[in-house]
Amino acid sequence: MDGMIFIGGGGEDYAVKQQMRLKYANRHGLIAGATGTGKTVTLQIMAEELSAAGVPVILSDVKGDLSGLAQAGSAEFKLHEAFHKRAGTIGFDDYAYAAFPVIFWDLFGEQGHPIRTTVSEMGPLLLSRLMDLSDAQEGVINIAFRVADEEGLPLLDLKDLQALLLWTGQNREQLSLRYGNISVASIGAIQRALLVLENQGGINLFGEPALDLSDLMRTDTDGRGVISILAADKLMGSPRLYATFLLWLLSELFEELPEVGDPDKPRLVFFFDEAHLLFDDAPKALVDKVEQVARLIRSKGVGVYFCTQNPADVPEDVLGQLGNRVQHALRAFTARDRKELRMAAQTYRDNPRFSTEDAIREVGVGEAVTSFLEDKGAPGVVERTLIRPPSSKLGPVDAAVRKAVSLASPVAGKYDTLVDRVSAYETLKARADAAAKAAAAAEAREEEMSTAEREFQAGRRYSGSRVSRSTSRKTRKDDSFGSAISTAVIKELKGTTGRRIVRGILGGLFKSR
Ligand SMILES: Nc1ncnc2c1ncn2[C@@H]1O[C@H](COP(=O)(O)OP(=O)(O)OP(=O)(O)O)[C@@H](O)[C@H]1O
Ligand SMILES: [Mg+2]
Repeated sequence: MDGMIFIGGGGEDYAVKQQMRLKYANRHGLIAGATGTGKTVTLQIMAEELSAAGVPVILSDVKGDLSGLAQAGSAEFKLHEAFHKRAGTIGFDDYAYAAFPVIFWDLFGEQGHPIRTTVSEMGPLLLSRLMDLSDAQEGVINIAFRVADEEGLPLLDLKDLQALLLWTGQNREQLSLRYGNISVASIGAIQRALLVLENQGGINLFGEPALDLSDLMRTDTDGRGVISILAADKLMGSPRLYATFLLWLLSELFEELPEVGDPDKPRLVFFFDEAHLLFDDAPKALVDKVEQVARLIRSKGVGVYFCTQNPADVPEDVLGQLGNRVQHALRAFTARDRKELRMAAQTYRDNPRFSTEDAIREVGVGEAVTSFLEDKGAPGVVERTLIRPPSSKLGPVDAAVRKAVSLASPVAGKYDTLVDRVSAYETLKARADAAAKAAAAAEAREEEMSTAEREFQAGRRYSGSRVSRSTSRKTRKDDSFGSAISTAVIKELKGTTGRRIVRGILGGLFKSR
């Protein structure tokens, strides 16, 4: 028999089990509903069920309340009775409290293990999106990446990108001849955007050790899928960083994982909370990419579930790919609300027992209109489903529990300390230092020359107006990390064979070609 994920009870008196087929869990899903209608609990029970079925899960925890997955529910909890009553109604006979294997992650390294990537793995397209760059500016970023690639300059952290931009600016003229126009204004704008990104916390995201994707795909000794919980409360303060980071993660998974065809159960399920942030004023090109990643990642055995208040937040092409759906109540205050509700209802297969539109308006808290893929992947008829109560704690765990979980984590110590190895910044700096030293040595030699010799040399140069030494020294000083290196580097540029170090500019999909 196919593996099933228990979601809740539907049909007459909510007594008919509503389940999602594990083998179709990679056909993506949607969890939607107005605030306070039960989305987070639905996400929690889906994560529980998937973990119990041996499927690793990644989810972002926007309000901190999903951390409860790490701790068992309790008979002392105020909803203990209500939970058991609900379990009785839906025929959930073996309902019991349990904790689940969890790894806490946090971009800021405060509430979990730090999670990092490198600038080159993020790639020019997503970085441009992250910094909200114009097309022209994105063009410059692309050139900078190519040059870094050809130069063999690893781009790991934001320092590297800053150094590279500075260098690109200083060698603008030579580079423009080769790659097309690089304007000073564009470079300046990117540098400013980088500062903003840095202040938003982007500095924490870039560096090493970079995340090893296999750490997101673990099972514990009992064969349960490990649930990776990404702290997103602070991250939500920078919506663009949040959305781009999760999109990057998705793309990395796409790139790294081999094809699996149609597996018995997904290899990984990814819940994308506050998914509207991904699409809010996103350029068409990016929406297309998301649509493409979603379509293709399925065959890698990864299911993606978008959680959002309103399904209208998700572009149609993406929505059309979300096969498994839990639609909590939507409000219908304004004419626009009602129109969106009608549109949402139209995407379901009607149940003769009730009107989908009415049901979406009427369902209570912790109740939803559900539809899961059935035989041959066809969408099932909608049901009004009372969602099962959670086995783990409802609401956040306290700091002590969080800490204990992190100390005992299978990745404890692996990511906690930042490593700053030699990369573009250090290399360019070393070159600049070397060039400055050579210049100083040349100057010293010049000092040693007798005045007479100097006059003689100057005379031979036929220079009309001799540049005074004090001026030339001043220029050199300003350029400590500047054009002094450019000549040396440009010379090398010709000789490099173009070592490909910019790996994974997003799974081929995000390669800007
Ligand atoms: N499946 C369920 N079983 C029992 N109680 C539930 C269930 N779902 C929701 N509830 C109750 O409803 C409350 C609100 O649910 P939840 O936090 O999931 O809403 P939400 O849609 O995530 O809200 P928000 O948009 O504010 O995040 C829960 O704290 C719980 O008391
Ligand atoms: Mg919620």
